[in-house]
Amino acid sequence: MAKIGVFVGTVYGNALAVAEEAQQTLQQQGHEVEIFEDATLEQWQAYVQQVVLVVTSTTGQGDLPDNIQPLYAKLNDNLGYQPDLHYGVIALGDSSYDNFCGGGHTFDELLQEQGAKRIGDVLLIDAIEVVEPEVFAQNWIEEWGALL
Ligand SMILES: Cc1cc2nc3c(=O)[nH]c(=O)nc-3n(C[C@H](O)[C@H](O)[C@H](O)COP(=O)(O)O)c2cc1C
Repeated sequence: MAKIGVFVGTVYGNALAVAEEAQQTLQQQGHEVEIFEDATLEQWQAYVQQVVLVVTSTTGQGDLPDNIQPLYAKLNDNLGYQPDLHYGVIALGDSSYDNFCGGGHTFDELLQEQGAKRIGDVLLIDAIEVVEPEVFAQNWIEEWGALL
């Protein structure tokens, strides 16, 4: 069973609701799960040989929310290579905006560049189509947890 850090980027709480759903489901599968909002680099570093799940919405014009942007900047500046990290991404957005799910894609691209191994595809959740993102994400989370 895996030790999983769930790192959340949210403005209005939708991504946090998805993260809490993920915590519950993954714990039921026997994984050890902790959620981080306003995460520090040190909190991330505790997982570089483990598993992280990034659950982030998009704000502004394809930007990461303010509560996860500092973590992104620190990873970009300080951690060049994280080849032992396994990760997943759940990206929340709204397809009426130009940069659909830009925040999640930005995080995924950084982790790819740094040699981390993504498990599964990025889950995109479109606020135009999905009323309850935490319900929509359930199947993906179960399948993702089973791949760990
Ligand atoms: C001011 C604002 C800007 C947004 N910009 C984008 C964007 O550029 N791309 C996108 O896909 N979604 C964008 N969204 C949609 C949000 O990402 C989406 O509603 C999401 O579900 C919010 O999740 P949260 O409650 O976790 O922040 C924007 C929403 C707002 C209110």
